[in-house]
Amino acid sequence: MGETFSRNKRVPPPHKIGSQKQKENNIIMEINLTKNKKVKPDFGNLGFGKYMSDHMLIADYADGAWGEPKIVPYAPFAIDPASQILHYGQGIFEGMKAYKSKNGGITLFRPRDNFLRMNKSAERLCMPKIDVDKTLDSLYELVRAEKDWIPDADGTSLYIRPAMFCSDVYLGVKTGAHYRFFIITCPVGAYYANGLEPTKIFIEDFYTRSSIGGTGEAKCMGNYAASLIGQEKARELGFDQALWLDAKDKKYVEEVGSMNIFFVIDGVVVTPALSGSILAGITRDSALGLLRKNGYKTEERKISVDELLTAQESGRLNEAFGTGTAAVVSPVGEIVFKGKSYLINGGKMGKISGFLYDTLTGIQTGAIKDDYGWTVRL
Ligand code: COI
Repeated sequence: MGETFSRNKRVPPPHKIGSQKQKENNIIMEINLTKNKKVKPDFGNLGFGKYMSDHMLIADYADGAWGEPKIVPYAPFAIDPASQILHYGQGIFEGMKAYKSKNGGITLFRPRDNFLRMNKSAERLCMPKIDVDKTLDSLYELVRAEKDWIPDADGTSLYIRPAMFCSDVYLGVKTGAHYRFFIITCPVGAYYANGLEPTKIFIEDFYTRSSIGGTGEAKCMGNYAASLIGQEKARELGFDQALWLDAKDKKYVEEVGSMNIFFVIDGVVVTPALSGSILAGITRDSALGLLRKNGYKTEERKISVDELLTAQESGRLNEAFGTGTAAVVSPVGEIVFKGKSYLINGGKMGKISGFLYDTLTGIQTGAIKDDYGWTVRL
């Protein structure tokens, strides 16, 4: 079926990611490329999360250490029905993207930050940490192997999903000794079916997503399972997503589940502070960095629903938008609370959302110079 060979890894030229420098190491990894390549989907009509590429990366943890990562043909895993992940949900993941650069080559956006955050999630879920440098190197190999799967139209990219789960076969509740780490990739367009059309969000005031001390800050699988009920409620009522409130007072907005949330009130861009129950979004952080560098006033603080509704009623709620790897920058055109609907910016995408979308995607695709050291070019 495939051809197995080992080769010396090519290390991309040194570059800065976030605030740290990449280490140059020279690992040998097994790369087993398939000869049975899939027929690619129509890159003009990708949607999100439907088509997986030809290969995946896997690495297994046992005896207190990670084995060497391997690139293998994409295929289902054989999983024991007693595997811990199937019962107790000890699983975490990440989301990042690779882009066809406007001037040739491939760009990745802040991949080191994703792996650093994965290690924080691993700590919270009592899972083993990954070696960030080594995992970055093997990710670069995977993306190179899948280069023909990276779409190049505006608004498209190769979504990269690293994940890790406990594979111990045991029905007692305890931390495991065996874990599988894997990365799959998937060409994508916009996360929301209506692309950049402003979304309608419903403020969920009964169920909660997470509380301080819980797992809300970790990118763990259970958080997303817990958020489905809000999403379903929103859909039944004709809205796109649920906006979660804090679990203690049910008064302050937190996040949407698939994205962090921002509001523009009186020209000031405000977003909920990272309280411990909100995901520390990398796109959130990038948006704040871009806004500050471009002279916008930003605040990270508690934002109550009362404040939002009062601002809307007095014409001071200028814009709302969400940020996330999958969602990029998604305008919010309407919020609904206790059955009452509040239109934002006439239901249209606002100036700041537009500026952020254009600048961020410009940097990600190499059309705009990256002054932040966020992109990695392969
Ligand atoms: C991402 O934005 O990458 C996420 O992991 C969110 C997920 C709901 C698609």
